[in-house]
Amino acid sequence: MAILKIALMGHPALRRRADEVPDPTAPEVKALVVDLIETMVDADGLGLAAPQVHVSRRVVVFHTPSEEEEDSEEHGAGLTVLVNPVVEPLDGERDDGWEGCLSVPGLRGLVPRFKRVRYRGVTPAGEVVERIAEGMHARVVQHECDHLDGILYPMRMTDMATLIFESEFRHLDQAAAQRARRPV
Ligand code: NI
Repeated sequence: MAILKIALMGHPALRRRADEVPDPTAPEVKALVVDLIETMVDADGLGLAAPQVHVSRRVVVFHTPSEEEEDSEEHGAGLTVLVNPVVEPLDGERDDGWEGCLSVPGLRGLVPRFKRVRYRGVTPAGEVVERIAEGMHARVVQHECDHLDGILYPMRMTDMATLIFESEFRHLDQAAAQRARRPV
């Protein structure tokens, strides 16, 4: 187990398409997942993708905490590990929401994402995960899977005037600030 160094925007590891994992149940995949989770928890993030720790493999971990479900009908996800994930929108509807990223520290941006998605992946135990997600859950999944294709959230933004420092969040709607408190 180890807390790994997180690559920052500009590092080539974040810009390439990550490789498929030939055997999701291989011991080295389990070891990588343990390190990803430990690193995510240490950094107080909601999610982390393998390229963010300089490993070019299609592996992500994330969770959407219960405190963000209280005032909505959205269902969050407990700690989820996906190897070779695939995400597809359920319809064309999009929503703007604030995002942060452990590879883009100190900043937040307003990012359009599909509101509802279906995603699929395999766990290191060999189990297939297939879920429908909406809201914050759908947003986190799209953000993490973008990392596997070399895409960081600023590349998805449509209004760069909304790229702001986290420390200036107090000037915004407090609920929005609270919701985007933790990076992914
Ligand atoms: Ni990120």
